[in-house]
Amino acid sequence: MSPPSAKPVSVYVFDAYGTLFDVHAAVRRHAGDLGPEAQRLSAIWRDKQLEYSWTRALMERYLDFWALTEQALDTAMAITGVSDAALRQRLLDAYWQLDCYPEVPGVLKDLKQAGHKLAILSNGSPAMLEAAARAAGIEDYLDEVFSTDRLKTYKTRPDVYELVTNAFRVYPEAVSFQSSNRWDIAGATAFGFRTVWINRTGAADEYTDLPPVAVLSDLNGLAALG
Ligand code: LAC
Repeated sequence: MSPPSAKPVSVYVFDAYGTLFDVHAAVRRHAGDLGPEAQRLSAIWRDKQLEYSWTRALMERYLDFWALTEQALDTAMAITGVSDAALRQRLLDAYWQLDCYPEVPGVLKDLKQAGHKLAILSNGSPAMLEAAARAAGIEDYLDEVFSTDRLKTYKTRPDVYELVTNAFRVYPEAVSFQSSNRWDIAGATAFGFRTVWINRTGAADEYTDLPPVAVLSDLNGLAALG
């Protein structure tokens, strides 16, 4: 007999950027044009995109994630001294067709075939998420794509995570939430989800009072957690 705390997980929810889709793929595609600053530009672009989501949520001055992505790229280009309008446009265009990580389609397919509900929960705008899922060929595995745009705010507000439990009519502990972002894992753990940190880069642990139940280096092994 299972212990009372071991409730079966019925819903698997995935963060999008960095977890399913490789946010650095856009810059990598144009690394030749960017030269030695390519990696630094990509890191600043991502950091600023996230910073703007947190400050906008706190200020309650919502702009959608696409607008934040554009503003963050402009900041990253200014900091790294890259000034090229055509290249800016190519980088933005590439963001709509990011590569997914190689194990993603297989893992989603297996979970779906095992009878689980699958969803994305992301700050990305609905149009961005739809395009990324289509480009990666994973849209057929997804029961729902939740964008925080529905609430005009961003993670880590608790009501964002509640979009999932309201839609699927489940308790938070029936949801396994996967993210490569440790701050997102903290938010989802605080809400009550079972969380799995996908630590793709070997990052140091943070938010140690809000721990995941497991840490994986990629999404392989998720089904084995049960
Ligand atoms: C997302 C970002 C935060 O997809 O990775 O929500």
